[in-house]
Amino acid sequence: MNHDTIIVLDYGSQYAQLIVRRVREANVYCELVHWNAPAEDVLALNPRGFILSGGPNSVYDPGAPALPDYVLASGAPVLGICYGMQLLAHTLGGRVAGSTSHEYGPATVTVDAPDDPLFAGWEAGEPVWMSHGDRVEALPPGFHPVAHSGNSPFAAAADPARNYYAVQFHPEVAHTPRGATLLSNFVHRVCGCGPDWTPANFIDEATAAIRRQVGDGRVVLGLSGGVDSAVAAALIHRAVGDQLTCIFVDTGLLRAGEAANVVRAFQQDQGIRLVAVNAVEEYLEALTGVTDPEQKRRVIGEKFVRIFEREAGKLGRIDFLAQGTIYPDVIESAGRAGGESRVIKTHHNVGGLPADMQFQLVEPLRPLFKDEVRRLGAALGLPESIIRRQPFPGPGLAVRCLGEITWERLERLRQADAIFIEELGRADLLRQGTQQAFAVLLPVKSVGVMGDYRTYKEAVALRAVTTEDFMTADWARLPYELLAEASRRIVNEVPGVNRVVFDITSTPPGTIEWE
Ligand code: XMP
Repeated sequence: MNHDTIIVLDYGSQYAQLIVRRVREANVYCELVHWNAPAEDVLALNPRGFILSGGPNSVYDPGAPALPDYVLASGAPVLGICYGMQLLAHTLGGRVAGSTSHEYGPATVTVDAPDDPLFAGWEAGEPVWMSHGDRVEALPPGFHPVAHSGNSPFAAAADPARNYYAVQFHPEVAHTPRGATLLSNFVHRVCGCGPDWTPANFIDEATAAIRRQVGDGRVVLGLSGGVDSAVAAALIHRAVGDQLTCIFVDTGLLRAGEAANVVRAFQQDQGIRLVAVNAVEEYLEALTGVTDPEQKRRVIGEKFVRIFEREAGKLGRIDFLAQGTIYPDVIESAGRAGGESRVIKTHHNVGGLPADMQFQLVEPLRPLFKDEVRRLGAALGLPESIIRRQPFPGPGLAVRCLGEITWERLERLRQADAIFIEELGRADLLRQGTQQAFAVLLPVKSVGVMGDYRTYKEAVALRAVTTEDFMTADWARLPYELLAEASRRIVNEVPGVNRVVFDITSTPPGTIEWE
């Protein structure tokens, strides 16, 4: 291991993952572990410091999550956040009490100990985000107050001799603008970690690990055209070259130009062994007459499994199945299964792979967040068109082609979508201004007039959203001129469409996709 590691103990805060991300953005590797994880597992990671997350409990609750002995025994620096602060204070002999007024929302912090390393770079009166009921009323021996807010006499406290630090507010959230600086200070200045969590370093470590795992075995990977499987393929190829074969199934459900782009990027540019399967007819046949969205997903998933099995079977001996599983998938499936579990990445996506396939899994992206995957992809030389790709549903355009799926209707949708995306690109709204934008083909015909003719054709809905997490989203306030031009072009250039509408529903209550 040629990097330092910080451990975040998870006490149930909704922000725990954000702490991990902020630390990694400071180029220090960080992992989230359950507060009660086995000590030997955590210590095996050789942590240079611990961060105790917030959480919903009071330290006096019966069975409240505790501070495991090994944390303090390790001698490593500790930073407690919110519940983590209360827990640290409580464990070390301070006093925690239910505050009469809960503090929730923005607050202003005044730093009283300007030399404190945690607050280097903070100005007087910085805004912070508070969210707590209990608070520390008396500091443990050895601690001194470092900062206060209107409602928290100990908004921050420290015992520099033992390298213990604690903050009542949440430095990990965007509402604490200098919070990232504070976390960076903790890992660099207090824990002494180097800025060694970089794509180049990760590539070295991961390729060595892949070589160790795979030996001279053969690996197969299903490329979807999405970011994760693309980056996994490029990384594994860097490690074991032609021992990797990728299978790309052209379902006919991708957007304009995408299938050709995947083949070009992998086969030609990266020199990866790629089996490209044209399964367009097969998918169309299987989808004939299917209009129910769940049924569409089922048909597409099953088809994928069958085609993948068939193609993998033609490759001769295969020992490993590689997947682009990333950290949020790991956390999500661990959460669902009530513990760490190595599940096949079926979540939400095309098919999932047959449970009875006798492969060992190779999943080199398991520790990474999405933005880290993108950075890694860039370092591996993948084109922007792949690493900056907007989210796209596993079942592809089937999700956005409401009603029956026919080749003609898919082409209609592809053309309308390409026009909308082109216009957004022209207005420079694809990077900023929208996080996801696409066209939807509706199974609704209405009357129109073109020249002297009455028309009776389908409608296209345009959807463009702004979002940070794709869980909640707002519709993008696109310029009228752009909408006018997209609408004009779609009606003129796409046969079979005579009406364009713009979706002004936020998420929730609407979903981002129509389906
Ligand atoms: P909804 O429509 O549920 O979508 O608001 C939230 C985000 O998830 C994407 N999405 C999918 N992604 N496989 C995926 O990988 C799927 O089946 C799928 N369905 C929706 C959607 O595009 C949006 O970004």
